[in-house]
Amino acid sequence: MKIEKNIPAQSLCDLTISNLSVWFTDVEVLKNISINFKKNKVNCIIGPSGSGKSTLLRSLNRINDDVHKIKTSGTIHFNNENILQKNQDVTKLRKNIGMVFQSPCVFPKSISENVTFGIQQHRKLSKAEKTSIVEQNLKRVSLWPEVHTRLHQSGNILSIGQQQRLCIARTLAVQPKIILMDEPTSSLDPLSTRAIENLMITLKETYTVILVTHDINQAKRVSDHVFFICNGELIEEGAKNHFFNAPQREETKEYLKDEACIC
Ligand SMILES: Nc1ncnc2c1ncn2[C@@H]1O[C@H](COP(=O)(O)OP(=O)(O)O)[C@@H](O)[C@H]1O
Ligand SMILES: [Mg+2]
Repeated sequence: MKIEKNIPAQSLCDLTISNLSVWFTDVEVLKNISINFKKNKVNCIIGPSGSGKSTLLRSLNRINDDVHKIKTSGTIHFNNENILQKNQDVTKLRKNIGMVFQSPCVFPKSISENVTFGIQQHRKLSKAEKTSIVEQNLKRVSLWPEVHTRLHQSGNILSIGQQQRLCIARTLAVQPKIILMDEPTSSLDPLSTRAIENLMITLKETYTVILVTHDINQAKRVSDHVFFICNGELIEEGAKNHFFNAPQREETKEYLKDEACIC
């Protein structure tokens, strides 16, 4: 299947997927996918439920490794290294490519310990460093005004929307280059959803964001570049306005019209 591509080289980030296929047992759930992600943009992966979006995202920081009977072919290059190689240091990879999950994963620890939890897996922090990292990263996710008087209380007492921002702060504290987000607002109310969406738009100034969403309207609000995945195939990709206003393939038109999948 031919995919239209017309992207200036300088806008490409250091993360490139080439001919990626993934099988669970003998079912091929990703079929020969090739993608160049765009640097300092919100790269949005959309598609129906079960189309392979999470599998694709989870391949990028090797979280799929834990799945029994998975087989992968193709390459994913990050900083000129194929991260699918057996000898890849996955801890280092996950430091560079952080992930935010569908439901906030707050640890049963204080708000401040939640922020520093990830970075402390990589290095020991002094007390002064901890204080500064906590403040800096809670400010980045606009949570500081809401929590600065109770940093030693448990992260679990926060609302779900605040918890998701706390998880993003924890991801940012590790200073990744790329942030993967798998339907990060699906458990949130509309107000918290907007807060996270606004945050994504700010984050792209510093990071490359790769967002999986099944919400077409969310993709319209936050994306710069869209990849449409259906039935494990990359059907079409394009810059936001072009993708939504002038989709080329029938499959994309049907999906954008009423989320119907004719792949
Ligand atoms: N751990 C797994 N073992 C077997 N099949 C899986 C596993 N994870 C996902 N799948 C299957 O792979 C396909 C793609 O799933 P997924 O990537 O989660 O899709 P999406 O995120 O688009 O909803 C689905 O058919 C799903 O059932
Ligand atoms: Mg999913």
